[in-house]
Amino acid sequence: MDLLESLKKRRSYKFPFEKKQIDPKIIEKCINISKWAPSAHNSQPWRYIVLQNMDLRTKLINRMNNKLRKDLRNDGKSEEFIENKIKTTKTQFLQAPILILAGIDLKALKDYQDSERKHNEFVLGVLSVASSITYLLISLQEHGLVSCWYSAPLFAREIVSEMLKLPGTYYPLAFITVGYPSIKEITPPKHQKLDTFLFYNSNLPIT
Ligand SMILES: Cc1cc2nc3c(=O)[nH]c(=O)nc-3n(C[C@H](O)[C@H](O)[C@H](O)COP(=O)(O)O)c2cc1C
Repeated sequence: MDLLESLKKRRSYKFPFEKKQIDPKIIEKCINISKWAPSAHNSQPWRYIVLQNMDLRTKLINRMNNKLRKDLRNDGKSEEFIENKIKTTKTQFLQAPILILAGIDLKALKDYQDSERKHNEFVLGVLSVASSITYLLISLQEHGLVSCWYSAPLFAREIVSEMLKLPGTYYPLAFITVGYPSIKEITPPKHQKLDTFLFYNSNLPIT
């Protein structure tokens, strides 16, 4: 597909997946393409973990959901809302043929003594991983696969790190679900008009 068309066609896929095996080599190929994304200082701090062990994946999602339940109760959400949310999360993460964890290797970031530059460097790490994930999503699409980026691991970092025995220098950021679609046509979400997000310095939106 033409790249620009492909950028417009990519959708976050949140529906059931087709029961079709995925060649692990395709996933490896797409993750390998994601390294061509730009990164600050060319640090390439992204690290992807394909969660192959289904037993471990189930235990992880159950523990993450226990935290989600607690968080939502603290938010004052109704039990019905919470159970629906948990059910959706289970379906999304346990029924996805492939589940990938994306995170930052903090060791790959530049180290500074002062907290401001330390923080800035961390932000650069997040941005770099985000650019790589975007490349990954597009590469998957080019192989006829669909995907969705979920931020759940960011909200359960301790659980993710503990369950997957990750070092303290790994900072979990996102899950990416991957599979073949059972639904081909997805209505795209509404997008902003160009003048909502593009400005020229002769026409700044200052009132
Ligand atoms: C940083 C980031 C975090 C996201 N986290 C979630 C999430 O936790 N749950 C979810 O359903 N979708 C998540 N998404 C997907 C967005 O909902 C989706 O990109 C957005 O609605 C636009 O739809 P599109 O990707 O089909 O264009 C996330 C996307 C990004 C870029």
